[in-house]
This record gives sequence, C-alpha cells and structure tokens, in this order.
Amino acid sequence: MERYEKTFLVLSAAVLVAFLVALAYATIAMHIELPGKAGVIPIKPGQNVAAAVLATAPFNHPGVTKTGPDQYQVAIVAQAWTYYPREIEVPAGARVTFVVTSVDVTHGFEIPGTRVNMMLIPGYISKLSYRFRKPGNYRIICHEYCGILHHTMTAVLRVK
Ligand code: CUA
Repeated sequence: MERYEKTFLVLSAAVLVAFLVALAYATIAMHIELPGKAGVIPIKPGQNVAAAVLATAPFNHPGVTKTGPDQYQVAIVAQAWTYYPREIEVPAGARVTFVVTSVDVTHGFEIPGTRVNMMLIPGYISKLSYRFRKPGNYRIICHEYCGILHHTMTAVLRVK
C-alpha cells in the first residue's frame, strides 16, 4: 500500500470518528432528539393528521403557558405556510420549552443565532428547551422546503 493511501485511510477514519463524537455530544450533552421521541399525536382510524393535532393538548390551545417559576411551555402548530401562534412573548432569562408539530407536511423550526433547530414531522411532536438571555425579537423560520411559499413561513418570538 502506498503511503498516501494509508494517510487518506487514517484521515477518513478520523473524520468518521469525529462525526460520531459530535453526534453523541448532540444527543447526550445537548439533548437534541429525533422528533417522535417527545411524543406522537394519537390518530383515530379515519381521522386525518390535522384534525388529530387540533384535538390533542397542548395543540388544541397553542401558545405560551407558565409551567413553573421561570419556566414556560410554548406550544406551536406549523401549517403551510405559517405557525400558530405567529407571535410569541416570553420573559428574558426564563427556560422556554418549545413543543411543536405539523398538521400537513414536513416543516422546519429554526431560530437563527441560537441552537433552536428542529424538524417538524406531521403527527410527531418535536421538543426542545432554551433560555433566551438577551431581550429582543427573534425570528422563527422554516428551514425545510415545504412548498411554493416556504420562504414566507416565519413567526416572531419577543423576549422582554
Ligand atoms: Cu414550512 Cu418551509
């Protein structure tokens, strides 16, 4: 075997190991999980996903709920091409848990500048917690292509 072949084999293996370590870090240390692990929407026979989502708590009343001292849950329903609710307000420094699902197709849920970044799969619940320390307006964007008006799919999170 040529020396440069050996070098490339070792480099390729090192890259794979680095990716595995990054994946383990994301799941174990940062608690980033696949949609579905946080829950699924119960769908009755003959019922469509949208009807099932809107009949399931907390998506039957999407919005902000105080769940404890300095803790908030934000339930959001994604639908082509918007989020319900489209405007959310939380206090700065509080722990905010996003509980999000989609009623139609796969959407994204990203808040640029933070590690809030989830994929939303119809019928599956995506969940992630984050503390917004800096007050301001944060834009929520869809980063999974979901049709002709995908680029207009946004919402705003106001941190006061
Ligand atoms: Cu929703 Cu792109």
